[in-house]
Amino acid sequence: MSVARPLPHDAAPLHVTGAARYVDDIPAPANALHLAFGLATIARGRIAGMDLDAVRAAPGVRDVLTAYDLPFDNDVSPSLHDEPLLSDGTIHYLGQPLFLVIADSHLAARRAARMGVISYEEETPLLTIEEALAADSRFEEGPRIYQSGDTDAAIKDAPHRIEGRMELGGQEHFYLEGQAALVLPQDNGDVVVHSSTQHPSEIQHKVADALGLPMHGVRVETRRMGGGFGGKESQGNALACACAVAAARTGRPCRMRYDRDDDMVITGKRHDFRIDYRAGFDDDGRLLGIEFTQYVRCGWAQDLSLPVADRAMLHADNAYHLPNARIVSHRMKTNTQSATAFRGFGGPQGMVGIERVMDHVAHTLGRDPFEVRRANFYADRATRSAPQRTPYGQTVEDGIINALTDDLATRADFAARRRAVDDWNAANPILKKGIALTPVKFGISFTLTHLNQAGALVHVYQDGSVQLNHGGTEMGQGLYQKVAQVAAARFGLPLGAVRITATDTGKVPNTSATAASSGSDLNGMAVKAACDTIRERMATCLAERHQAKPGEVIFEEGEVRIGGETLSFALAAKICYENRVSLSSTGFYKTPSLAWDRIKGEGRPFFYFAYGAAITEVVIDTLTGENRILRCDILHDVGSSLNPALDIGQIEGGYVQGAGWLTTEELVWDGKGRLTTHAPSTYKIPACSDRPRIFNVALYDNENAEETIYRSKAVGEPPLMLGISALMALSDAVAACGAGYPALDAPATPERILAAVQRVMGGT
Ligand code: MTE
Ligand code: MOS
Repeated sequence: MSVARPLPHDAAPLHVTGAARYVDDIPAPANALHLAFGLATIARGRIAGMDLDAVRAAPGVRDVLTAYDLPFDNDVSPSLHDEPLLSDGTIHYLGQPLFLVIADSHLAARRAARMGVISYEEETPLLTIEEALAADSRFEEGPRIYQSGDTDAAIKDAPHRIEGRMELGGQEHFYLEGQAALVLPQDNGDVVVHSSTQHPSEIQHKVADALGLPMHGVRVETRRMGGGFGGKESQGNALACACAVAAARTGRPCRMRYDRDDDMVITGKRHDFRIDYRAGFDDDGRLLGIEFTQYVRCGWAQDLSLPVADRAMLHADNAYHLPNARIVSHRMKTNTQSATAFRGFGGPQGMVGIERVMDHVAHTLGRDPFEVRRANFYADRATRSAPQRTPYGQTVEDGIINALTDDLATRADFAARRRAVDDWNAANPILKKGIALTPVKFGISFTLTHLNQAGALVHVYQDGSVQLNHGGTEMGQGLYQKVAQVAAARFGLPLGAVRITATDTGKVPNTSATAASSGSDLNGMAVKAACDTIRERMATCLAERHQAKPGEVIFEEGEVRIGGETLSFALAAKICYENRVSLSSTGFYKTPSLAWDRIKGEGRPFFYFAYGAAITEVVIDTLTGENRILRCDILHDVGSSLNPALDIGQIEGGYVQGAGWLTTEELVWDGKGRLTTHAPSTYKIPACSDRPRIFNVALYDNENAEETIYRSKAVGEPPLMLGISALMALSDAVAACGAGYPALDAPATPERILAAVQRVMGGT
């Protein structure tokens, strides 16, 4: 059986030798042209004049295009028609593409792009949530509200109350491979697009609109991305459309990649949030009533901000039963990059809100934060009488968080280490340690219900080798390998017999983005369906020859057994071919049981939940705010793992990325709206040396209660939120410095930690 085995990533040897081909490595014909955007240097206003003579005259430049030169749609938005490829005269953010340079080389295009002389009618930009609120600049009228129970009364009547505010920074995706596209012109004006995208069907759609073609005129291929993390769900549209327009105009292949600084300045990032909270609770810290007001900085265009903000609301409960809750969400429009999908898709921000509340409640009562968390957990499936409801009305059928966190606490010796940290802090005046356990409950499915579908195309060749294609894309997460394991298992073949091929809109149409962690859930099932169709056809054919029943034909270990006879799968395939049996099939899957009304905030947006918990131990230097993660222990629920090695890799990477978001990764804009942290020199992602020195990751033994592919669970995003334990551990360390509550915002940079230490020492 090839599922459940800890096989390495299918492209691991290619990754480590540098042989893996990314879009910019694909050899382009010698006459290929290269593109670069000229960018706005103010954040808000109008273009008064654009003198591009110097750009046109620059060495190697073939052509320069503005919005007026675009043949059809000037729009690269994945949602509303509100995102021009090139500015139509209005400037929405500093870094917005204004014109497009087409040149003989990448460098020539980039050099020329800086030579535009643009004059502006400048306006005061709205950069912050506060500025947008003051101007009532927002997407969607008024706030969206999801609620249950009587929150105001519950808070008013509670024995204890707190109020607070938290600020949460955004995050740059920092995929190692930047955005890139290559477009090759074909007969009849059709194009082939190679794009580093999580969403080939979206690229196809936008390129078709940009060229005025039906979708059948555009074929998009994506072999792999060097990381996407949500940043390639929509942000690749601009490059693909630019290349397509330039290719159509010149009749030559066109390619484009953003330099790292341009990538950071042009593309959207994680939404930063302000969260205000008000809570009432009892002596045990049980929340009786809670209100969250989430302010979401969406940037200039809508992009995916509405579903991101929705998902933040849907994770405001995390793993806690909140009988009386009101969650209010304001989606603010600002003159900054259009914030976009980022691993967790708003969920992490919502979850940090409630974890902050747990921490604040525990501090207020002088109780252990884990005890307070435990007092609020959803009951486990195994021990509860009736399932509880989330604030949005979904019953939590599959609860395991109590058992999982108890298991983790035991494995990691949490109680003793808690005491050891307290003892250490009592003895050490300068360095302080902190420790925290935080849970994760993450909803799996796209909240836009119709996206929960997938297709596959499987061929068995007459030599018994199998070629596999599905709508999911590979961005390093190991989706191709997992799905290939499914196909191999269905045919009882060794993995080597299955070849997975690049994602291709010509093979599987109308796909959803590989996102919402549902790649293996959706595509695994679609591939299973396709394989099973072929297997049944083969079984029927072979059974007939042996006067047996199709159900008696066994596919195992590269062989097909029938009656007393055993033949190789290859021979079986050949026999079926000669008997004119179709050995090719599509497969389709749609997630069952979903029903969600996002306006009312009611129904079942998620098929199931993925759970996990992490314990992080940190040390801070109270004189400088510098800090370090000393140890991390994780227990995470992936159902019955399709591949434990890949799943553990996702968990480790997710944790580190989440901890990075909440600690060192700080985005800074100046007062003019210029992103000042636009390179690795000023934007600090975790390095190898920042990972926890002791890093214990284990999978929780728990098959999915829902019927997913081999009862596995999605793993892509949920572990990012395990990183919240690092922020809470830092808060715990700061709290050891005095009596006040740290109220530590994120990212908890050394500066913020130092300021919090000083606040706490002052007792405020
Ligand atoms: N892992 C790697 N190595 N690279 C990535 O870009 N993206 C994450 C996650 N893990 C990502 C990753 C995000 S945002 C998602 S939604 C899922 O992978 C998508 O893949 P899946 O649905 O197959 O899990
Ligand atoms: Mo992931 S943020 O859903 O691409």
